[in-house]
Amino acid sequence: MDDKFTTLTPRLYAYLLTHNPPRDAVLTDLAAETAALGGWGIMQVAHEQGAFLTLLAKLVGARRIVEVGTFTGYSAICLARGLAPDGRLLCCDMSEEWTAIARRYFARAGLVDRIELRIAPALETLRALPATPDIDLVFIDADKPNYRHYYEALLPRLRPGGLFVFDNVLWMGAVADPANQEESTAAIRALNDHLVADERVDTVMLPVADGVTLARKR
Ligand SMILES: C[S@@+](CC[C@H](N)C(=O)[O-])C[C@H]1O[C@@H](n2cnc3c(N)ncnc32)[C@H](O)[C@@H]1O
Repeated sequence: MDDKFTTLTPRLYAYLLTHNPPRDAVLTDLAAETAALGGWGIMQVAHEQGAFLTLLAKLVGARRIVEVGTFTGYSAICLARGLAPDGRLLCCDMSEEWTAIARRYFARAGLVDRIELRIAPALETLRALPATPDIDLVFIDADKPNYRHYYEALLPRLRPGGLFVFDNVLWMGAVADPANQEESTAAIRALNDHLVADERVDTVMLPVADGVTLARKR
């Protein structure tokens, strides 16, 4: 086996964090408030992942971004901060309660005019979007069994050269454990198998946080 990887010990992870853009007060406070929700807090993207999302949005020159799974808004703020000056972010979530926190932090970040939040099952929201391929970037971080449906709904709406970012593709390692046949694990495994063979996209799977796959539309 190729061993060109570095095991991320707590000490090394702390080092990594000090060599990422520091969180500002808005993201620091949002991370703290989300952590105070208890176990749900783990759903928030990691610090370095947020910086990665901002950079990806800048790299693709994103004017139109769709996020599926907003929760308390951390990834949305990171994505919106990478938008082009006239760009907009559409956020999809079902929870009024969690996105009420997101709305407060969008306001604090001065992003209210750039972000639209739609509260509904995401598949309904996505299927109601215009069929024109004008989306530059998609971030998918919601219910795992629907990832494939989100992908198929959004691929025709993504411009050629546009980018999908899928979160949790390693699912805390469960994808590589054949004994784990839980619904979300099986769904992510099937998506991973599908994406790497899908000739409509170029892909890379990366060990960022809980695993991130980038898929660029051909
Ligand atoms: C992992 S969290 C998103 C974390 C967020 N990206 C962040 O960085 O804080 C998943 C979110 O997906 C939402 N969700 C789950 N199933 C959904 C569905 N079918 N439609 C819309 N949102 C859904 C949940 O309400 C939750 O807020």
